[in-house]
Amino acid sequence: MQRLKINGEQVAVDVQGAESLAAVLRERVGLTGTKIACERGECGACTVLVDGRATMSCIQPAALVDGEVETIEGLAEEIRDLREEFADRGAFQCGFCTPGQLVRATALLREEAGRAGLDPEVVRHQMSGNICRCTGYQAIVAAVVEVAERRAGVGV
Ligand code: FES
Ligand code: FES
Repeated sequence: MQRLKINGEQVAVDVQGAESLAAVLRERVGLTGTKIACERGECGACTVLVDGRATMSCIQPAALVDGEVETIEGLAEEIRDLREEFADRGAFQCGFCTPGQLVRATALLREEAGRAGLDPEVVRHQMSGNICRCTGYQAIVAAVVEVAERRAGVGV
């Protein structure tokens, strides 16, 4: 039995062999906000935070996780502004990639906390591992920049 800290709670999970963190979150813990698509670390749909670092949970063996895991469910309150900005700007269509995008953006926004002038190209680069087949990325990048500016106390 492995103990994982997920969204602030200790959870005991009977991890099987090389089972991925994504599978454990979805199938054993019931946190289905984390999506699984490519299962090869190439699309970012499964992004969660482990000790604050954006992590592709589909290629992360759950048995090797030694830090605090945060999923989209645990971040919901912290990123209320970002979720609203995504909705207002139409930064999603089918929504499948959106949890991963929001989690990855959370890591970026934490890194940039308090600093104004976030460069859209930096956002584009840092979020390049999160693939969206619907939106063309423009609205996603704009939403992240807007929230960074607002959190830094600068109106855009
Ligand atoms: S499902 Fe994990 S990176 Fe695509
Ligand atoms: S909103 Fe459909 S894949 Fe991103």
